[in-house]
Amino acid sequence: MNPEELQRIAAEELQAKSAAKHRIGVCTASGCLSCGSREVLKAIEQEAAARPEANLRIEGVGCMGLCSRGPLVMVQSGPVPAENSGAGAETAFLFKELTPADAPALVAYLEQQKSDPPTVAAGSTASSLAAKRCDLSAPFFRRQVKVVLEQFENIDPERIESYLAAGGYRALLDCLHHRRPVEIIDEITRSGLRGRGGGGYPVGLKWSTVAKAGAFVPQAGRSSRQSAGATAADRPDGPRKYVICNADEGDPGAFMDRSVLECAPHRVLEGMAIAAYAVGADFGYLYVRAEYPLAVERLRKAIVQAEKRGLLGRNIGGSAFNFQVEIRLGAGAFVCGEETALLASIEGRRGQPRPRPPYPAEHGLWGCPTLINNVETLANVAAIINRGADWFAALGTEKSKGTKVFALAGKIKNTGLIEVPMGISIHEIVHEMGSGEVGGIKAVQTGGPSGGCIPAEHFHLPVDYESLQAEGSIMGSGGMIIMDEGAAMVDVARFFMEFCVEESCGKCAPCRVGTTQVLLLLEKIGRGEGTAADLGQLEELCHLLQQTSLCGLGQSAANPVLSTLRFFRREYEQLLVDNTGKSNETDGSQSPQQGPQEVKK
Ligand SMILES: Cc1cc2nc3c(=O)[nH]c(=O)nc-3n(C[C@H](O)[C@H](O)[C@H](O)COP(=O)(O)O)c2cc1C
Ligand code: SF4
Ligand code: FES
Repeated sequence: MNPEELQRIAAEELQAKSAAKHRIGVCTASGCLSCGSREVLKAIEQEAAARPEANLRIEGVGCMGLCSRGPLVMVQSGPVPAENSGAGAETAFLFKELTPADAPALVAYLEQQKSDPPTVAAGSTASSLAAKRCDLSAPFFRRQVKVVLEQFENIDPERIESYLAAGGYRALLDCLHHRRPVEIIDEITRSGLRGRGGGGYPVGLKWSTVAKAGAFVPQAGRSSRQSAGATAADRPDGPRKYVICNADEGDPGAFMDRSVLECAPHRVLEGMAIAAYAVGADFGYLYVRAEYPLAVERLRKAIVQAEKRGLLGRNIGGSAFNFQVEIRLGAGAFVCGEETALLASIEGRRGQPRPRPPYPAEHGLWGCPTLINNVETLANVAAIINRGADWFAALGTEKSKGTKVFALAGKIKNTGLIEVPMGISIHEIVHEMGSGEVGGIKAVQTGGPSGGCIPAEHFHLPVDYESLQAEGSIMGSGGMIIMDEGAAMVDVARFFMEFCVEESCGKCAPCRVGTTQVLLLLEKIGRGEGTAADLGQLEELCHLLQQTSLCGLGQSAANPVLSTLRFFRREYEQLLVDNTGKSNETDGSQSPQQGPQEVKK
């Protein structure tokens, strides 16, 4: 497909959409499917078929954020918003918790072609529809800035044409026809995009390292291509580079990457292809956990569609660039998300980390330079190419550019998926967007088992890499669990440590033995049998874990313990048999780096 063909297909799709008086998008991501959105979609389709005068276009679309109140249904009218404009439709209504029984009222209402929301006499089905209408001017929606999740309400994840109409693959063809790899890397570098997989490493720098690791020689018709990477035995002999999309997403409660893959698989494939062109790779892997069957199914479909349209495979977009993508399924081990363990897993070996350096950028898959980026990282790429580095860099803070997708869970009214500009305060997310009760919330946990708990007193903090780290937590991949006064922080720490014990691969002693010892101490303290000496030992072990573990899992496993000790120490002390009653709760005077001797004083 060349740029002209792409434009033609996109225009046809947009025309078909615009011809309808109303466009109805039913969320078909996992959250809504699990509460019956497929049945709602069918019921609306049946009702619409019986009333062709209503002139409706109905399709399954992506997640609209308020996942806990599904099935969600968006009704839009007026012209389709211009691609990459960030604008919404002229009129848009969002309905929550729809059931198939709501379909007749919805279609009947739209048939009347009113432009105001359904508000009719109480007791009728239309009034029940009115009660299910979401207020799109509420902070939950209004405060969002969508780059990664952009147009999810307009994209049918199962049709490439739908993605093309939303501006899809334009960035890739622009790169292939008008930009040199070095210019693309420069654009990404200037944008300030940092890796969204947890570490926040500068994306441009990583791309540049992989690009420099070997010359880019687009070779049409390399015979080894078809079988490359399938197993260690049939890997190619010649020099090559790889791009890997890390979609392992193992943090408890996190579902950002799953949602992006389910709702816009082509956005991730486009990001991978641009990255591959920029660094000189011609083969890519999507490493997805097998527990994400819908994401895997849609990715498979998307790869076939993109290949058919000439947007993956050989001579992409009529250029000399070749890029083939395969899916590799992970078996659900959290550690396989760690990049060197992931490489081992793809190579067919046991998924265990190895020491770095050498880094995958120089010595990756089968010894070849390999670019590994997270799903959300790659989903940002096309937008940066389309709108430019300056546009992206204007979002966020000085050191944390752009937006971040979070999976909001816990003791708030609005749980689900949000995308916010970096630098937004935790208060705004929890209390304004999440509608968490002011005064009733105790802490927020970010970064999953590698992160920490931030107390309500620190909710003024901006959400960026440095600020969260300074508070003993991390941005992580985007899990955000909100806890109320009922949360016992020793239990919270124990929960995450149990997870780490379960997921430790056992390769190095500090983590294999250390996490278990820390857990035993937490259990002892939790039972009310711990002493002040145990508390001291707990901290000592945590620091040992941090300093001596081989990979990020062990190095960060102590974070939830240390952060709860820092801000909620009194909860630990109150459980001790020799309880001193001393407290430094939330005064911030205990640093997570504080040594064991100081703590024992
Ligand atoms: C235990 C562990 C699990 C990880 N899991 C993931 C994961 O599921 N997804 C991910 O993108 N990165 C994960 N990472 C980070 C990766 O090692 C790597 O830094 C990341 O994929 C790089 O992509 P980025 O630069 O785009 O963030 C994990 C790291 C550790 C230590
Ligand atoms: S730190 Fe833990 S997960 Fe990482 S290599 Fe060592 S044992 Fe395995
Ligand atoms: S899964 Fe439907 S709104 Fe998120």
